[in-house]
Amino acid sequence: MYKLYCRIYQSIFKVGMNFLPWRMPKTLEGPGSVKELPALIRKKHFKKVLIVTDKVLRELGLLDGMLEAMDEAGVEYAIYDGVQPNPTDVNVFEGLEIYHENKCRAIVAFGGGSAMDCAKAIGTMHVKKNKAIQQLQGTLKVLRKLPTIFAVPTTAGTGSETTIASVITIVATKHKASINDICLMPKYAVLDPELIAGLPPKVTAITGMDALCHAVEAYTNSTYNTKLENELAEKAVKLIYDNLYRSYCDGSDLEARNNMQDAAFYAGRAFTRGCVGYVHAVGHTLGGLYGTPHGLAMSVILPHVMRQFGSAAHERLARLAEVCGMEGANDAEKAEKFICWIEDLKEKMDIPVGLDVIQDKDVPQIIRWAMKEGNPLYPVPVIWKKKDFKKLIDTIRQ
Ligand SMILES: [Fe+2]
Repeated sequence: MYKLYCRIYQSIFKVGMNFLPWRMPKTLEGPGSVKELPALIRKKHFKKVLIVTDKVLRELGLLDGMLEAMDEAGVEYAIYDGVQPNPTDVNVFEGLEIYHENKCRAIVAFGGGSAMDCAKAIGTMHVKKNKAIQQLQGTLKVLRKLPTIFAVPTTAGTGSETTIASVITIVATKHKASINDICLMPKYAVLDPELIAGLPPKVTAITGMDALCHAVEAYTNSTYNTKLENELAEKAVKLIYDNLYRSYCDGSDLEARNNMQDAAFYAGRAFTRGCVGYVHAVGHTLGGLYGTPHGLAMSVILPHVMRQFGSAAHERLARLAEVCGMEGANDAEKAEKFICWIEDLKEKMDIPVGLDVIQDKDVPQIIRWAMKEGNPLYPVPVIWKKKDFKKLIDTIRQ
């Protein structure tokens, strides 16, 4: 009965999705492309913009090229650089105050997922002045036109530059509020590989695996996807297959870096409609309970979940194996090859097979939270109950 309820919910949700105004951010792309952003801002007639970023990026001088180009193009700007790794409601209102004080008209989100989430929330609170962030938690609660957001990602993984979500931590309660609405999707994304050339190999590895996870989960879900999401997920997987290890070995390989930026962008757009699955549902709980970095949790959990889905995922995983040029006698064999490739890649990049942080006392909580996030929304190949989550957690802990 429970599984039937989930499937009926998903069928109705799928119909509802057809009425939403899906789109995709326009991109500026290639080495040095961030310096073209000010001219684009100027062309769009925004006199002054708020740049949302964090202190580390600013001190590293990563913004310098863009700021010089802003001065040359005559684009005025104000900077909010207080974004924390898990952006808070305090960050959002600090940024919003600067936006208002300086009479800004658009927002440049410069950084990883945190800067982009914070920028989206600043834009949201600008148009929803009388609401608290908690009241906007959920799906389609904003329904307004936000100030234009130009996203400049400095990692290749989250895909936040093309997603509709913003996750903000409420300081008073430590609760993470997730706002999901198509109006939060940035209008433009700048994919400049020079900005990520300096990422350490470990960060390259786990953020890249996060992108892989978005593509694989969206593709194996299949229910909500249109042809576009399926194609984007396939393209992302092939790009990651060809470029993640390459950029891990040589961070200055700008071609590989740019390809990984494309992969993260495509995968982000694929899961924005196709949804993620149980890898994210379980991974989020580990981030909340133990501070496990998101990409690390994703890398560890991904192959275990795909293998536990069994034959229900074989057909889709086999298609991904084919996209990467893997061969096999049948779908089951190809799917297994694909999962083995993920495991081999992890090993080569020094990512562990399991995690030893999970404590016995927390297991019921992890299962409850993961089920709450995943069911009934995520159209995964097999609907899991408590015992299935328990089995996965036992596998991860080994
Ligand atoms: Fe993710």
